[in-house]
Amino acid sequence: MSRIAYVNGRYLPHREAAVSIEDRGYQFADGVYEVIPVLAGRLIDEGLHLDRLARSLAEVRIASPMSRAALGAVLREVAWRNRVRDGMVYLQVTRGVARREHPFPAPRVPPALVVTARRGARVPDAPDGWGIAAITWPDERWARCDIKTIGLLPNVLARQAAREQGAYEAVLVDGAGNVTEGAAANIWIVDDAGVLRTRALDPAILPGCTRAALIGLLQKEDIGFEERGFSLAELRAAREAFLTSATSFVRPVLRLDGAPIGDGEVGPVTRRLFALFAAHVGGKSNHADP
Ligand SMILES: Cc1ncc(COP(=O)(O)O)c(C=O)c1O
Repeated sequence: MSRIAYVNGRYLPHREAAVSIEDRGYQFADGVYEVIPVLAGRLIDEGLHLDRLARSLAEVRIASPMSRAALGAVLREVAWRNRVRDGMVYLQVTRGVARREHPFPAPRVPPALVVTARRGARVPDAPDGWGIAAITWPDERWARCDIKTIGLLPNVLARQAAREQGAYEAVLVDGAGNVTEGAAANIWIVDDAGVLRTRALDPAILPGCTRAALIGLLQKEDIGFEERGFSLAELRAAREAFLTSATSFVRPVLRLDGAPIGDGEVGPVTRRLFALFAAHVGGKSNHADP
């Protein structure tokens, strides 16, 4: 079965799906994107993702390519046409196609929309086996990391460095020695005093939808946490650490730069939050067979 992409109004096999060389996404990384998990055929936290997309578009002054309802229908159609029951849909909106000049095209051109889908991991039954190793890496990104733009070169270089060192994620550290986030995930710790913490939202980090969903669950369950950033030294001294992202869900970080975090095993808080999140997204018991 060939994969199908939505490209500017048409559903096309990938080999025929293409954009212009003058698409501003290609020329300038002048665009924004979303990754929405699909589990048991459902788009997870769709509202949070579409809200963040609207915010990203407004921040960079790209018009919305279509109504929210129409976009939701396209996302579902792409997932369905690709028979994706567990995986993700990817969407990207750029400022459209125009002769290469830095200022916005005038007169305005329509934004360009591409949507793809692919199969991926289900939420595992348990966090054991889902843990990862990370490295630390300087945060060399721009000053508006709160916008989910397609300009990801520093993230690419950071994740490649992680891979070359046998790790999965790169934890980004700013010039003051504070942790911002992962190259493609938010990061949380249970600090050496047992406090569950993640950095408060600011322009240095992406407002993760998984982060937001987990905070909602913590509040519902009356589990204490603090939105308070931490230094690299605090991360190294933490009892537990974990990532949150659309594709990692709640993912234990067991080693950092080769040294164990805590005792190097999945900790009790991470285990509990993993279970909470798994239940939130439907968990194993709700999966229908494809
Ligand atoms: C830099 C960065 N931070 C955080 C996240 C987590 O965001 P979400 O939970 O919405 O996937 C991502 C996701 O790709 C990311 O790229």
